[in-house]
Amino acid sequence: MDLNGKTAIITGASSGIGRATAKMLARDGANVVLAARREKELKELKNEIEKDGGKALVVETDVTKRDDVKNLWSKTEAEYGTCDILVNNAGIMPLSYMKNFHVDEWLKTVDVNLNGVLYCIAEIMPAMIKQKSGHIVNISSTAGREVMKGSAVYSATKFGVRALSDGLRMELSPEFGIFVTCIEPGAVETELTESITDKELMEDFKDMFADLDFLDAEDIAKAIHYSVTQGDKVNVAELQVRPVGQG
Ligand SMILES: NC(=O)c1ccc[n+]([C@@H]2O[C@H](COP(=O)([O-])OP(=O)(O)OC[C@H]3O[C@@H](n4cnc5c(N)ncnc54)[C@H](OP(=O)(O)O)[C@@H]3O)[C@@H](O)[C@H]2O)c1
Repeated sequence: MDLNGKTAIITGASSGIGRATAKMLARDGANVVLAARREKELKELKNEIEKDGGKALVVETDVTKRDDVKNLWSKTEAEYGTCDILVNNAGIMPLSYMKNFHVDEWLKTVDVNLNGVLYCIAEIMPAMIKQKSGHIVNISSTAGREVMKGSAVYSATKFGVRALSDGLRMELSPEFGIFVTCIEPGAVETELTESITDKELMEDFKDMFADLDFLDAEDIAKAIHYSVTQGDKVNVAELQVRPVGQG
């Protein structure tokens, strides 16, 4: 599929996988809507994209706030008329051991990683249903297939994103021609681990991944790009992308 003139909303575009994806889709002609909380980073990215000849719109958005997500959709509709691709990428990963009771972080993880995805789907899906086309890309994780000590809550949200993607595909693809893809990255070098505050876990986590050669954000952006450019017949339902050393 040609991305020229298509509009893609990317949540969590201020860093890591979201940032790399926005650049890649914009380079191929998509209008990209950059959504996250850090406006400064989004504006810098918009400038980079526009210097390369691309088109970008910044909408400061906290995906846990329903009004912010409503505003994200109305700004997108006003600027570009519709949304062809929604990349539900915003996420946090404050891993912790359950015995250490980081209860506020448990709830925040559910709020961003699961409720945030639901809010975006609720706002943007109606336009896709009406136009009988569109593509929803949800970012799960290998932690959405395998639980490790310390990932119980994070994994619960990412298992949830995978289940949600399956259900969405079954309900939306045959009836409305909407594509649904679930991307499951392994370890990628980004800012994601900065939200970890459990010191005990952090020590173990560092040891566990000490020898691993992490993927780059661009490796996952390529998988997203692949998923959204396969044409009218091919629904790339799931892609798991791991560093070779992750096993
Ligand atoms: N890195 C990995 O190893 C890995 C592996 C598997 C899956 N993933 C998934 O990939 C996705 C992207 O993560 P990343 O690795 O690229 O990490 P990252 O660099 O930390 O990016 C996370 C993005 O989410 C945004 N975000 C966080 N809370 C938000 C909120 N309440 N509202 C809106 N945006 C919010 C952040 O922007 P602001 O702070 O500006 O809001 C940031 O742009 C996440 O869903 C993550 O779970 C990552």
